[in-house]
Amino acid sequence: MHCKTKLFSVQIPELAKCSVLMRERSRVEETIYAMQRAGAGSLQVISDFDMTLTRFAHNGKRVPTTHNILDNQLLIDEDCTKKMRELLNTYYPIEIDASRTAEEKLPLMVEWWTKVHELLIQQRIRKDMLAQAVRESSAMLRDGYKVFFDRLTEQQVPLLIFSAGVGDVLEEVIRQNHVFLPNVHIISNYMDFDQTGVLRAFKGQLIHTFNKREGALSHAAGLRALQGRPNVLLLGDSLGDLTMADGVSEHQNILTIGFLNDQVEERKESYINSFDIVLVKDETMDVPNAILRYITSSRDRK
Ligand code: C5P
Ligand code: MG
Repeated sequence: MHCKTKLFSVQIPELAKCSVLMRERSRVEETIYAMQRAGAGSLQVISDFDMTLTRFAHNGKRVPTTHNILDNQLLIDEDCTKKMRELLNTYYPIEIDASRTAEEKLPLMVEWWTKVHELLIQQRIRKDMLAQAVRESSAMLRDGYKVFFDRLTEQQVPLLIFSAGVGDVLEEVIRQNHVFLPNVHIISNYMDFDQTGVLRAFKGQLIHTFNKREGALSHAAGLRALQGRPNVLLLGDSLGDLTMADGVSEHQNILTIGFLNDQVEERKESYINSFDIVLVKDETMDVPNAILRYITSSRDRK
């Protein structure tokens, strides 16, 4: 064990950064070893999108979520912008409030998403304007995203992006960053357009931050590409993201990584108690990339 630990710190030095917190380092090590022994063929990655694959902030300014990318005059009028911002100012603090439970937040999140989706539908958003809105936005994936997507593709590891954001916008963000690759699968809130390309509804069951478990059981469990891959690397920025792997039957090893972007001191303890690895104010993919590099390397496999 001692020897392994030494090996570990040499092979994944990124885990020694002071922004990396772990409740139980030995469990993390054992899980990573087990995943490395099983190899890339046994692995799947499940990741949240907003504030997990995308940055939280850049040059001191918040990076927009997929919903916020729609806040563009190409798509919505001033009144709608104002109302959406008011809703964000009301409900986002609730979403990240460390003093409320997920159960307490749940109905309020449904309220937020429902109100915003109704507003968006009233705006008769045009499908053919979405790409331009994404181009004009300051959407930004985390530093190192290219290495992340490329390695998963090279190693034929499926990546499930599981987002409570807007699927059509999410797809456009990854397309414009040239990483909408064949191993990428998406579960999200998709827009339903009428025959003339005007938004008329959102498809399927609403996904918000705290009902990903239901989405996992109804959608992810049926995804063929994920089957027969019992090891899961899960990435998220909300405690609600931890349920994204609930659709994986007969999993063997799960390693969870949580990006702690906001309300750091208030939420640190609960994040450490909930995720295996917590990354504090880290805008990069360096740690997930280092772990993936190790897991998918063939060296020392027994
Ligand atoms: O991809 P992810 O599941 O993280 O997307 C959900 C995020 O989008 C939430 O964390 C929430 O803060 C944000 N959101 C938003 N505007 C809304 C609804 C959700 O920015 N109207
Ligand atoms: Mg998120």
